[in-house]
Amino acid sequence: MPDPAPPRILALANQKGGVGKTTTAVNLAAALAARQKVLLLDLDPQGNASTGLGVPRAERGAGSYALLIDGRPLAEVIRATTIPNLHLVPADQDLAGAELELADLARRESRLKTALEAGAPALKGVDWVLLDCPPSLGLLTLNALVAAEAVLVPLQTEFYALEGVSQIVQTLERVRAAFNPALRLEGIVLTMYDRRNNLSEAVEADVRAFFQDRVYDTVIPRNVRVSEAPSHGLPVTHYDPRSPGAEAYARLAAEFLRRHRARQRQEARA
Ligand SMILES: Nc1ncnc2c1ncn2[C@@H]1O[C@H](COP(=O)(O)OP(=O)(O)O)[C@@H](O)[C@H]1O
Ligand SMILES: [Mg+2]
Repeated sequence: MPDPAPPRILALANQKGGVGKTTTAVNLAAALAARQKVLLLDLDPQGNASTGLGVPRAERGAGSYALLIDGRPLAEVIRATTIPNLHLVPADQDLAGAELELADLARRESRLKTALEAGAPALKGVDWVLLDCPPSLGLLTLNALVAAEAVLVPLQTEFYALEGVSQIVQTLERVRAAFNPALRLEGIVLTMYDRRNNLSEAVEADVRAFFQDRVYDTVIPRNVRVSEAPSHGLPVTHYDPRSPGAEAYARLAAEFLRRHRARQRQEARA
């Protein structure tokens, strides 16, 4: 048997907090895990992705801090979740200090890339690695953007949406120029869309006019089940699969895979 292809690495990034990065990382990961093998790596010191997958703060043990700063092997920090085919590298207690500690380390921007490459045997059979970034453009996010092949930007459907996104797009350009020329903008996902609010429609029209087909067709509605799910340690896709939020994330995963296959066909022709 030939070795399976290495996993594709996708960062969920946006320097704004509360836009749906973690929610999208957890639920896209869970929805993808219905068909493929997924590893979610929690790079946010808040550790919301870890909590949302049922690993509370006290039970985290070694995670992304140990991987990035201590050089612990990937195999030692990966753990199973209650979702089949979905594994997690949790945010450990020390991750809050990582931003400062990284600054003093050699090749500080590529520690994650190196760790994932060195951990290739532990990633055998994994199709996707999702990186949940903190709400800043510091060294943790930079490590994600250097390790990733693409970035998905969750964008809260609100008045200042476009202003916020221009900053992340500029950051991608700088990262491409300095560290990772192949880094792609996978797309933009509109989150917390409120059908009853005229503003949502106007913001959506603006974002689509500007970013065109890079904006995902799938829009994630504001849905209380989405916000309840983390307190049960479950993705909404498993907490309430029939809810509008869960159905939207299932459609998002399908669109993500459809776009991936279309790109692969295009690359094969080129
Ligand atoms: N579609 C949604 N409907 C309702 N609440 C949501 C939705 N998406 C996210 N939230 C809530 O909004 C807050 C911020 O989302 P989160 O994913 O943690 O953002 P970020 O990771 O960008 O900081 C959380 O409390 C989350 O539960
Ligand atoms: Mg978050």
